[in-house]
Amino acid sequence: MQVSTFTSDFDWLVASRQFICQTIQDCLANETIVRLALSGGSTPKPVYDSLAKESIPFDRLELFQVDERYVPPESSDLNANMLRETILKDATLFRGYHLFDTALTLQNSMQVYEEMLAKLPQPLFHLTILGIGPDGHTASLFPHSPALASDQLVASTSTEVFAGRDRLTLTPKALLASETILILVNGREKSAITNAFIEGKAKKEDLPIMCIHEHKNIHLFWQNG
Ligand code: 6PG
Repeated sequence: MQVSTFTSDFDWLVASRQFICQTIQDCLANETIVRLALSGGSTPKPVYDSLAKESIPFDRLELFQVDERYVPPESSDLNANMLRETILKDATLFRGYHLFDTALTLQNSMQVYEEMLAKLPQPLFHLTILGIGPDGHTASLFPHSPALASDQLVASTSTEVFAGRDRLTLTPKALLASETILILVNGREKSAITNAFIEGKAKKEDLPIMCIHEHKNIHLFWQNG
């Protein structure tokens, strides 16, 4: 795992954007299409916003969601709405994008996404962007969630702590099928959990971000100033 720390939001943002652009460029040297899986939450929002202004060959990018809150389509808690306000501002530029359909039943939405992912070649994603929640969750994999042991690519979970009680999420199996994983963390208040993850001491049941610890190409960009 490569850990990069920053003391200012600006430096963290610039480095995160550069890393994503470079990873996309590197992939495009060998691939026609680059598949990108994006987390929600508030941390990546400025990064996605600034990516929208870059001259990236968007017509060779396919976007996927790491997780979604099962809330009405107009809700500000919907991760897809954050994506539409930022990187997907001009969605027509992209080769494709795959959002969870929360107008379907939870079960159907999960199934449609599972079937779509199952048709992809390996690696499922060339780059996956994850965050770490204050309880150590990543994607919508919360502590002690049965989804941590799922053999499917997509699962439903629930949280009593965070906005959007019912969730749709990629499983560890899907996340681990990523060529590169970039973890974006912003905030000193996440020091204890972020350090526990870096040291690899916790169990994934207690600290779900541990479910990807074994991955060989993880980059953690942490603004901890
Ligand atoms: C979500 C996310 C989630 C997020 C963490 C961290 O829908 O909430 O995809 O996994 O990455 O909650 O969020 P922050 O970095 O914004 O605290």
